[in-house]
Amino acid sequence: MIISGNNPVHVQQAVDALCTGELLGLPTETVYGLAADACNESAVAKIFKAKGRPSNHPLIVHVASLEAAQKFATEVPDFAQKLMSQFWPGPLTLILPRRTEMAAAAAGGQSSVGLRCPSHPMALEVLKACEAKSIWGVAAPSANLFGRVSPTTAAHVQFEFGDALLILDGGECEVGIESSIVDCTRGVPVLLRPGQISRNQIEQACGLKLVNPEELSSQAPRASGTLASHYAPTGKVRLMRKADWQKALEALGPHTQNLALWSLEKPSQELMGAGLYWRAMPAQAAQAAHDLFGVLRDFDARGVLNIWIETPPDTLEWEGVSDRLKRAAA
Ligand code: TXA
Ligand code: MG
Repeated sequence: MIISGNNPVHVQQAVDALCTGELLGLPTETVYGLAADACNESAVAKIFKAKGRPSNHPLIVHVASLEAAQKFATEVPDFAQKLMSQFWPGPLTLILPRRTEMAAAAAGGQSSVGLRCPSHPMALEVLKACEAKSIWGVAAPSANLFGRVSPTTAAHVQFEFGDALLILDGGECEVGIESSIVDCTRGVPVLLRPGQISRNQIEQACGLKLVNPEELSSQAPRASGTLASHYAPTGKVRLMRKADWQKALEALGPHTQNLALWSLEKPSQELMGAGLYWRAMPAQAAQAAHDLFGVLRDFDARGVLNIWIETPPDTLEWEGVSDRLKRAAA
């Protein structure tokens, strides 16, 4: 059931659901989360079950304050503190050493925990109300079935989990792709997942160079968002340079069928056959991130079999979008 985040009675209903060990569809500025009390083991088990996600894949724990973060993390290195003060609340998750007694199930048994303070006002309102009841953190993976496209509207969440799930409607997610994740447990900051906050913004804020996971001797834990194939719509996704999709469309000619194209430039009129559904890719990376998952869901809803996506520019600000597109195409 979708309830309105603008209605205080409904917000209270959302808080009550979390406090009584139920699941909640929670709006954040990145994507919607499937939320539960991070320290309630049976509630957390419901998340893994509903998503069909392996229970050793750690979930992100959402907190309303630094004080709450400290309930979960044993220590916050200096560079992590700088990142928190610069980017929280906001789309940045920090992996920190975990207090053994806190959120073990949510952390998928890792000795670390992923923490994020979201900036969506309704998420913060819910988290603060939970904190007031000594529920210090809310575990929330993206509210989609395992391996599928992340949701950026309440309707997307309802499509994934049906009407039985309580979903707080906070409108369209502003960012549109999941948070950047920085592992802070290895003495140096390691970028596990790129997001809207870019590599150079992170490096500037903490004064250290980001290390890539491949450069480490021991591997980071296996985690859904970092699997090669993820964020996959039903249609088959291909990433193509502009010259390549143009040539391929010319070759298909009038035989184009069940094909969708997301590209910076509109195909010429001769190439726009009836079997081609086109949507414009925004020229700004932030706007493209905002649109991305909605576009993939739109293509699926139209039942297209093949999805061609123009390879985005190879610049730092496109890194988050490029990362999701490569996984969607894998
Ligand atoms: O923007 C977001 O981060 C969204 C919203 C709802 O906050 N959440 C999200 O959660 O994307 P999820 O579960 O889809 O992605 C969680 C990812 C894992 O796949 C993993 O990469 C990383 O966070 N993660 C969480 N805890 C970790 C840990 N202890 N060690 C390493 N990676 C961890
Ligand atoms: Mg996810």
